[in-house]
Parts: sequence; structure tokens; C-alpha cells
Amino acid sequence: MTKLTIALPKGRLSKKALELIEKCGISLPESLDDRKLIAYDKNNEYRFLYVKPADVPTYVERGTADIGIAGKDTIMEEGKDIYELLDLKIGKCKLCIAGKSPEIMRDVYSLRVATKYPNIARQYFETKYISPDIIELKGSVELAPITDLSDVILDIVESGATLRSNGLKVLEVVADISARLIANKVSFKTKYDIINPLIQSLEQLVGAL
Ligand code: PRP
Repeated sequence: MTKLTIALPKGRLSKKALELIEKCGISLPESLDDRKLIAYDKNNEYRFLYVKPADVPTYVERGTADIGIAGKDTIMEEGKDIYELLDLKIGKCKLCIAGKSPEIMRDVYSLRVATKYPNIARQYFETKYISPDIIELKGSVELAPITDLSDVILDIVESGATLRSNGLKVLEVVADISARLIANKVSFKTKYDIINPLIQSLEQLVGAL
């Protein structure tokens, strides 16, 4: 019988998230194909939902998944009512403001910011008493300043290769990002006996990273 449902992010975090789960002693299904959205461990005790990274907090907040692994960027942007239990120290990157040159930030009152993170952008600039024109994009945000759709971007920078390839520089660091273990608030209480050992194992693994 399924004891726990875990929402896992597809994409760049996926491999490292699965490695952590496996190291906790949960035997993953032998063939994980990209198209399958639900999978079970070999003992049918754990159910895995493979979801778009930005959707992990939604599945967890609603209780469709008991726990999940989500990037801090997603958690900040979505602002869901969930518990953030542990920094898993994987998927490390930085949320940055980037643009062609620092001079672009001078005229802050007409600043145009392209981003996949409109809520984070609004909150970040609010702390500086600036309310820029926020242009929401779904991806390839780096194209915006080089086509004059925006002055700057707010986006995640991991290796910096995408910025370099497009002649952009980090102008400000907004936050350090890494993946977090999150939990549904009710599941955390009702399934504490299952979730807590998992936290303990992950804590040990992360401590050794
Ligand atoms: C992310 C991010 C940057 C890039 C940063 O995009 O939005 O574009 O990765 O990584 P780097 O610093 O290692 O170059 P992603 O690959 O997730 O695709 P997307 O732009 O379509 O969202």
C-alpha cells in the first residue's frame, strides 16, 4: 500500500533528486521513462509524481503530494502555504539581475525587467522603492535585453554560460538558490512517522555533501 506521495521536479534537478531518494534506501522503479508521470518504488510504498518544477509547491500545498523537492526560486515565486523542511544543497545557483552593463540600472524609474519570476521581481524591487515594468516570459529570458524587449532580466544563473554567450553580466545578486524538501502541512502531522525518518536520512546525506 502507498504510504507517501512525493512530487519530484522534471528537468535539471531530476537526476540529483532521484539520487538522493535512492540513497535514502527507497528502491526506485527500474525503468524510469520520461513520459511516465507516475511511478512507484519496488515495494509500492512510495508514489512519485513527476511534475514541472514550478508545479511542485502546488501539488504539495493541495495535498496531492505529501512531500516534494522544489527549487527555492520556485518556492519564493509561488508563495504557497507549505513547510520548507530542509535545504538539500543540490541545484545550487543564484537568482540575479543581469543586463548588458551596470549603467542600464541608472534610470530605475523607467526600468523594464523580463523574468520568469514576476512575483520575486516585484518584491525585490519593492524593497528598493522601485516599481519597474515587469515583463513575464516563459523561458530564454536572456533574449529580452539583447532585443530591447527589456533593460535587464531577473533569472537564475548557474554556470553563467547563457549570460556569457549573450553578452550579459550579473548586475545584482537577489538570492542564493538550492533545492528544498517541502511538505504538505497536514501530511507532515498525519504522516510524521514516515516523513521524519526520511528527513533524518536526507539530513545525514546532505551533511556529507
Ligand atoms: C535556465 C535559466 C538560464 C539558464 C542559466 O534556463 O533561465 O537561462 O538556465 O544556466 P547557466 O548559467 O548554467 O547558463 P533553462 O535551461 O531552465 O531554460 P529556459 O530558459 O527555457 O527556462
